[in-house]
Amino acid sequence: MPTDKPRLYEELARQLAALIEGERDLVANSANMAALIYHGLPELNWAGFYFARLQELVLGPFQGKPACLRIPWGEGVCGTAAARGTAVVVPDVHEFPGHIACDPDSRSELVLPLIGNGRVLGVLDLDSPVPGRFDKDDRAGCERLVGIFLAHQLRWPEAFA
Ligand code: SME
Repeated sequence: MPTDKPRLYEELARQLAALIEGERDLVANSANMAALIYHGLPELNWAGFYFARLQELVLGPFQGKPACLRIPWGEGVCGTAAARGTAVVVPDVHEFPGHIACDPDSRSELVLPLIGNGRVLGVLDLDSPVPGRFDKDDRAGCERLVGIFLAHQLRWPEAFA
């Protein structure tokens, strides 16, 4: 496993592309992506997806402890990232008003929106027990992973149905 972050994300990007190649199913591919991230990045206690369903985010494939099933649009870190359509990095979840504590071990969080066909289709959520775990390299690296995933899934009309 590479020690510097850009190289680590480079390797994860390569592995992700190989994992999803040839499969179009959203659940199968997002499940493998969550597993790749959870086991490939150090110091995470949760990694997974919420998908947009009727102005709510509904829990998708993930790795970690059982989590909140539904998050209203605009609430918590996930709902905020979905409503803004931009990544949200929270160095200390205790300082984020409205943070939804699914796992009390979580101390910092990175959430990226999944944007396609002109709308927010869901979010990728990473949680860490370490305060300040996520920096600009993590954000850029995860945005690249999300980009690979979306470019693949959006090739099919049923992509996020
Ligand atoms: N902490 C998130 C909720 C999801 S869990 O962390 C898996 C939030 O505030 O939106």
